[in-house]
Amino acid sequence: MREINNNEYHQWIKETKEIIDKFPERKKSFKTSSKIPVERLYLPSEITNSYLEKLNFPGEYPFTRGIQPTMYRGRLWSMRQYAGFSSAEESNKRYKYLLEQGQTGLSIAFDLPTQIGYDSDDPRAKGEVGKVGVAIDSLKDMEILFDAIPLDKVSTSMTINAPAAILLAMYIVVAEKQGVSADKLSGTIQNDILKEYIARGTYIFPPKPSMRLITDIFKYCSKNMPKWNTISISGYHIREAGSTAVQEIAFTIGNAIAYVESALETGLEIDEFAPRLAFFFNSHNNFFEEIAKFRAARRIWAKVMKERFNAKKKKSLQLRFHTQTAGSTLTAQQPDNNIVRVTLQALAAILGGTQSLHTNSRDEALALPTEESARIALRTQQIIAYESGVTDTVDPLGGSYYIEELTDRIEKEVEKYLQKIDELGGAVKAIEEGYIQREIHKAAYDYQQDIERKQQWIIGLNAFAIENEKMPEIHRVDPIVAQEQEQKLLELKATRDNYAVTSTLKALKEAAKTDKNLMPYIIDAVKVYATLGEITNVLRDVFGEYQPS
Ligand code: 3HC
Repeated sequence: MREINNNEYHQWIKETKEIIDKFPERKKSFKTSSKIPVERLYLPSEITNSYLEKLNFPGEYPFTRGIQPTMYRGRLWSMRQYAGFSSAEESNKRYKYLLEQGQTGLSIAFDLPTQIGYDSDDPRAKGEVGKVGVAIDSLKDMEILFDAIPLDKVSTSMTINAPAAILLAMYIVVAEKQGVSADKLSGTIQNDILKEYIARGTYIFPPKPSMRLITDIFKYCSKNMPKWNTISISGYHIREAGSTAVQEIAFTIGNAIAYVESALETGLEIDEFAPRLAFFFNSHNNFFEEIAKFRAARRIWAKVMKERFNAKKKKSLQLRFHTQTAGSTLTAQQPDNNIVRVTLQALAAILGGTQSLHTNSRDEALALPTEESARIALRTQQIIAYESGVTDTVDPLGGSYYIEELTDRIEKEVEKYLQKIDELGGAVKAIEEGYIQREIHKAAYDYQQDIERKQQWIIGLNAFAIENEKMPEIHRVDPIVAQEQEQKLLELKATRDNYAVTSTLKALKEAAKTDKNLMPYIIDAVKVYATLGEITNVLRDVFGEYQPS
């Protein structure tokens, strides 16, 4: 590498040596097919103050070029396919299959009754049991879900929000039964209720008690689960609802600011919980805009944490995120076209520096993925990782005139939205007032108009379509899962210690009326096999349910 005469650069090399000793790069040397050495980082001929201020070195504030000094030369992103359907037994099989195929992290999809706190035998669960995710009614199902999966070896993400505390409690107890203590557990709980009010809809309680449950998790984990990411602040669903890339980042960071303020109000110190905040973004079709979006998001968050919240720890300033390729861009028509869309979207997330990635399957516009489609989706990540060479140097598009200009522009537009949200009194008020939802609906309408008017081509849909196309074989959930779950609940309630269930639920109810941290009470209840629905109903009695205006 050419000699670089810059003090900051040499300081960076010194600091990264320690990290590389701990986390050696994946290969001794990286070369192109023509045996040209590939350097860890490429830099401008002169490292100016503007470079250091806006980009800096990877792993250095404001992290525009990535949060780790070596990024994927040190460790690839986690290949973490969102999966779950039917019963815990069926989902356990799929998780083992994906891990055998080389997946490096788990990502649990729960069915809708679980996500909104109803047991499978609740009349309001009818028709949805095991449909869009796995049905979890009690600790018994959770034990089956993770049967023979060592929780001290895998990191698990759980996409659960309103009842997040209950599923986290179950996970802690399942690990305990495996002999794994909570402080050894790594993973993430989505736990992001604000985007549920905005876009996804699986809320239960009103904002105030919901924020209380979220910060109870922050507090509990900061003391007991140092490796656990307490929230995955999500832009994914905001984008899926039709927002622009700028809005996705702006409304996600606006929500993040609300969570931080709520945690500080409970007396937590910023550096006590901020290192375990995580994010979740979408990777959509406009390739360069998506790459610039991720780079801008890192810089914006770093500045918010440093300047607004005075965070000191480096990990408090780093925006760590998971990406899922955009489900809304998948077409039911010519489903194999989706493999190409997902490849480009995955590549954008990787060139944008994601820490974890889910690649959608080609048939997900039609149903949950078949095993074959899920495998192709995983292979997409593996081919990018191991064949394309894009992981051999850090932030390869850094310094591109287009990328840097787009990164700056996105940052400026996001900051305008953040100012507007501040003027409205913060994200919770902006949501209650409907401002964020209106902005998204306008963007969604404009995009749909572009498609209708063929200003936006969607190949196979409004361009190059095929008449009377034959649809592929799709995954079907066997409706018997609902009866099986109901049978399991009957057996559970006949065999468990119902006195212990009643007394733990009573204790939870009393605690919910105070400002006590509810995690210990919820853990006690799940331990004696109180069901998800029973626990949620106790909280419904105390908190009420959210009624959208
Ligand atoms: N050098 C040194 N250290 C490195 C490194 C490098 N190059 N690369 C990674 N590391 C370290 C990290 O620092 C970390 O160590 P630490 O925990 O001590 O800090 C460790 O290696 C693991 O790395 P990451 O934390 O980056 O990777 P993870 O995969 O563990 O975590 C995450 C990624 C984004 C932080 C986490 O929040 C996560 O896994 N999120 C996943 C969320 C998810 O899957 N959500 C699915 C939602 S599905 C949904 O909602 C859609 C549906 O509704 C349709």
